Amino acid sequence: MSTKITLSTKDVTTLDKKYTRIVITEETLGHHRFVETATGHTEYRQGVGKWDEVSPRTFRTLVRSLVQSLKSHKVEFASIAVNRDSFPKLQQYDEAWFASTITENLALAAYDYTVYKSKPDTKQSLKEIVVLNQNSAGAKAGFTRGSVVAQYTNSARDIANTHGDDLTPKALAAAAKKLAASTKVTVKVLGLKEIQKLKMNLVEAVGKGSHNEPQFIVMEYWGGKNKKDAPLVLIGKGITYDTGGLNVKPSGSMHDMHMDMSGGSSVMAAIVAASKLGLKKNIVALIPAAENAISSRSMRAGDIVTAMSGTSVEILHTDAEGRLVLADAMTYSTRYNPKAIIDVATLTGAALVALGQHASAVMTRDQNLETTLRTLGEESGDLVWPLPLWDEYKGPLKSARADISNIATNFSRYGGAIEGGMFLDAFAPKNVPWAHLDIAPRMDSIMSDKLAKGSTGEPVRLLIKWLETY
Ligand code: BES
Ligand code: MN
Ligand code: ZN
Repeated sequence: MSTKITLSTKDVTTLDKKYTRIVITEETLGHHRFVETATGHTEYRQGVGKWDEVSPRTFRTLVRSLVQSLKSHKVEFASIAVNRDSFPKLQQYDEAWFASTITENLALAAYDYTVYKSKPDTKQSLKEIVVLNQNSAGAKAGFTRGSVVAQYTNSARDIANTHGDDLTPKALAAAAKKLAASTKVTVKVLGLKEIQKLKMNLVEAVGKGSHNEPQFIVMEYWGGKNKKDAPLVLIGKGITYDTGGLNVKPSGSMHDMHMDMSGGSSVMAAIVAASKLGLKKNIVALIPAAENAISSRSMRAGDIVTAMSGTSVEILHTDAEGRLVLADAMTYSTRYNPKAIIDVATLTGAALVALGQHASAVMTRDQNLETTLRTLGEESGDLVWPLPLWDEYKGPLKSARADISNIATNFSRYGGAIEGGMFLDAFAPKNVPWAHLDIAPRMDSIMSDKLAKGSTGEPVRLLIKWLETY
């Protein structure tokens, strides 16, 4: 059961006593205690340090830490009243941003994934958080937006947290349909026969080793004033489990690979949220879904496969499978004449080596798109940081046997995230702004995120902002 986040115009003094009042103070950062007031209300007081030191980044984690603390103390009902005017550094954004940010982060921190837990004491105890004193029109709009953003970010987490035996490519397609049910998003699912007919041979090759057939999920939202306007296209990697294939992953590197469809679930969530928010945009989301499994039918290292685009690909490494399915999705996207494309993928461990776990990598040749995504990253909390897509990095992918190789032919791991981006670059439609987000660094939450263990749901918040503004 998920925690309800509600907005109330009530004053804190008239609110029922069952609600623990969250009060933030200028006491030392992180210090907290429960206090009984003279009126018989319970207060939860937490220090934030100096008001004027709270930045958009620290404000988000502050909100989350309040929730984590209430959860650990098994509080069931709470209220929160915070004033935007108290925080000088937050004035760069408007009231709607403030209310949306509070709402989003309350709900993201309240989220738990307990589907596979059998004991009730591990279940969610926090039932409701009431947000007070956000009565302006801007704040109300922000609250409504934040509720939608959080709901779908948490849906993306639910899907990503589902293990690989429960979330096959067909189950991922079913999840897309369920998410889009009773919205204006349509879902079309192409099965193996249609994938073969379209010559999406790379998608087929990656899925060959599994008895769970690959699927190609197409989601469309025609919310634009003119249905003929070029859509924004999102492409999400949908590897439902990544064993590495015959180039099998070592133990310690495989167990989290049920989340290798996090790009897919994030674009699914973003397009449905866009429809719920009533965006006046045309949007398409494409999710090539496959299981990278090991069997006598698996693709082999050294196999050469002709992509949907006609480019022949030497599969030098079966664990570089994400870029293969994305390449065919990129080719498929040309039928829409996209206005712009963003692909989202847990593509490389090398992105983690480059950036650690605090930001996803963004790679694009479009300077404007890079700046936009970095700015929206700061605004949303889904931080991204650039890596280059320069022709200098093309050389290592030059294959002796085919048009291109899926990894550096000398097996060098240097610049691995960039080589992944350069491979995709060879399949990106020409003259269309395109950015590649390698979200491997943000697939799994870390302690400082103040989120439940498992999927972060990134970059759903960033994608929604991009769809709203681009
Ligand atoms: N899904 C993995 C990347 C990954 C690693 C995501 C860690 C999240 C956390 C991807 O398919 C992969 O295996 N990439 C290889 C590429 C290599 C063979 C060039 C990698 O990173 O080792
Ligand atoms: Mn892999
Ligand atoms: Zn993978």
